[in-house]
Amino acid sequence: MSPRALVTGGAGFIGSHIADALLDRGFTVVVLDDLSTGRRENVPSGCEFAQLDVRSADAARLVREGAFDVVLHEAAQIDVRKSVNDPVADASINILGALNLLEAVRAAAKRPRFIFASTGGAIYGDFVTPPNVEEYAKDPDSPYGIAKCAVEHYLAYYGRIHGVEGGVLRYANVYGPRQDPHGEAGVVAIFCNRLLDGRALTIFGDGKQTRDYVHVKDVAAANVAIATAPLPAVGRLDARAMNVGTGVETDVITLAETLRRVSGRDAAIEFAPARPGEQLRSAVSIGKARQLLNWTPQRTLEAGLKETFDYFAAKR
Ligand SMILES: NC(=O)c1ccc[n+]([C@@H]2O[C@H](COP(=O)([O-])OP(=O)(O)OC[C@H]3O[C@@H](n4cnc5c(N)ncnc54)[C@H](O)[C@@H]3O)[C@@H](O)[C@H]2O)c1
Repeated sequence: MSPRALVTGGAGFIGSHIADALLDRGFTVVVLDDLSTGRRENVPSGCEFAQLDVRSADAARLVREGAFDVVLHEAAQIDVRKSVNDPVADASINILGALNLLEAVRAAAKRPRFIFASTGGAIYGDFVTPPNVEEYAKDPDSPYGIAKCAVEHYLAYYGRIHGVEGGVLRYANVYGPRQDPHGEAGVVAIFCNRLLDGRALTIFGDGKQTRDYVHVKDVAAANVAIATAPLPAVGRLDARAMNVGTGVETDVITLAETLRRVSGRDAAIEFAPARPGEQLRSAVSIGKARQLLNWTPQRTLEAGLKETFDYFAAKR
C-alpha cells in the first residue's frame, strides 16, 4: 500500500509543490486548505481535497482518523505585516491551528509524523551574523516569527513528553512558480509581474539588504526527504529543526539586475524609503539538512529566476 500524506496549505504556493513531489514519489496525498489565500486549481489533480480550516474539529478528525504516515503542515497566515497589525488573528491560525492538529496527532490510533513549515528568515532576528545556524538564539522581530517559534517549542514538547514524531524545516525566502504576486512575501513574483507590465522595479531602502532565495522545488524535495528520513533523537528545541535555503546572501539590487538579465526585459530600478523594521541581512546555513536529509538545493538563482519569469509570462 502506498504511504499516505496530508499536506495542509496544499492549495498554496509551497504546499502545492510538496503535494506534486509526494505524488511523484508514490504517496497518496490529501490536501487540506481553507482556500483563504490558496487556490483550488493549485491542488494537483491526483490529490483528494478537503476544504477545511486547520482550527476546526473536522480538520482534527481528518488527522485523527485519516491513517496518515506523515502530515506536512504548511497552512498559515504568512504575511508578516498582518501579524504586526493583528497578532491575535495571526496566533489564532498559526499557533492554535497547529495545536489543534498536534492534539489530533497525539490522539490518533496511527500517529503520523508531523513536519512543520517554520521560518529561517524571521526566527533568528538581527542579533546574529548570517549564515544562521540552527542552534543560534532566536529573537524574532514579529508576531509571525514568534508564532513559528512557539509552535517549534510545542513540537519539541510533544516529542519529549508525548512521543509525537516531529520535524521542523525552517525555510529561507522561497520563490518560484505559483507564488502570489499580490502577497507580501514574494519579491520575485512582484518583480516578474512588474517586468511583464513594463513598470519600474521598486527597491525599498538602499537595496543592500540581503536574503537567501531558495527555489520552491528544492523546498519540496527537502519535505519529501524529511517525510521518511531517520530523524535525530528528540531533545532540545533545535534537535530536529533544519534550515532549508542555499546559504547564499543576495542583495535586492543584484536580484533585480539578475531578473532583468534573464528575462530580457528592460525596466528602471527605482528607490523608495526603507521600510521600518526591515531586517538587513538574512541567510541560513544548510549543512544540517545536507547531512541528515542528504538534500542539497539543485537550482542556481539564475536558472530558478528564469523558470519563474517564464511561468509568469506564460500566464499572461
Ligand atoms: N514563502 C516563503 O518564503 C516562506 C518562508 C518561510 C516559511 N514559509 C511558510 O511556508 C508555509 C507555506 O507558505 P506559502 O508561501 O506557500 O504561503 P501560501 O499563502 O501560498 O500558502 C498557505 C496556504 O494556507 C492556507 N491557509 C491559511 N489559513 C488557513 C487555515 N486557517 N486553515 C486552512 N488553510 C489555511 C491558505 O489558503 C494557503 O493555501 C507557511 O507555513 C509559511 O509560513 C514560507
